[in-house]
Amino acid sequence: MKKITIAIDGFSSCGKSTMAKELAKKIGYIYIDSGAMYRAVTLYCLKNNLIVDGKVDEEGLKAQIDNIHIEFRLDESTGLPQTYLNGENVEREIRNMEVSSYVSPVAALPFVRKAMVHEQQLMGEKKGIVMDGRDIGTVVFPDAELKIFLTASPQVRAQRRVDELTAKGEPVSFEEVLKNVEMRDHIDQTREESPLRRAEDALLLDNSDLTIAEQDKWLMDTFDNVVSSL
Ligand code: DC
Repeated sequence: MKKITIAIDGFSSCGKSTMAKELAKKIGYIYIDSGAMYRAVTLYCLKNNLIVDGKVDEEGLKAQIDNIHIEFRLDESTGLPQTYLNGENVEREIRNMEVSSYVSPVAALPFVRKAMVHEQQLMGEKKGIVMDGRDIGTVVFPDAELKIFLTASPQVRAQRRVDELTAKGEPVSFEEVLKNVEMRDHIDQTREESPLRRAEDALLLDNSDLTIAEQDKWLMDTFDNVVSSL
């Protein structure tokens, strides 16, 4: 069967990566978490004193950008992709709070985006890929055969995040999380470089009121329709 390129974009905390990962597994495609790449660059900055007094040393990072090598390798036991930074598995580290708090300014730097987009395009050269992020359908793969723009109301996303953190034993207030969700939406949509926006040909999926099973069915039906129409 002909392999296609699948681009999944959308707001933070609406389940993009869970959706993309599951889909890739089911259809035997490669899954790439583009956000993990921006997180790995941020971790590199933190480890190499390129974030000083809370500010990114842009010139320093620019001089070292070619030394940053990011790849994904499958964990044999779980079948899930792991992020490697210069040969080291950093999958856990890139999800910590310190990285999370600096990744937005790092991801907004034009030379960082240029380097990551180039890598992402190379990864997708052979198709058979599901990539999630903010600019995949608009910038990275504008010719993707299937583009999905995922969203859910800020309240629903905040509640999901509260439930997740509470389950991990980190209780937080709903109001605090909602404020954070709304702030990130604002930054993602208004940044100058590749802001989050729905590609004109992307299918909109609002999963506020969908169960996982309903979402999975929509996704598989949509994928089958696209592939059979080629
Ligand atoms: O999806 P995430 O939360 O792991 O993304 C981390 C950061 O990277 C977030 O600030 C948005 C940014 N990002 C981006 O600018 N472009 C992408 N294609 C993916 C993520």
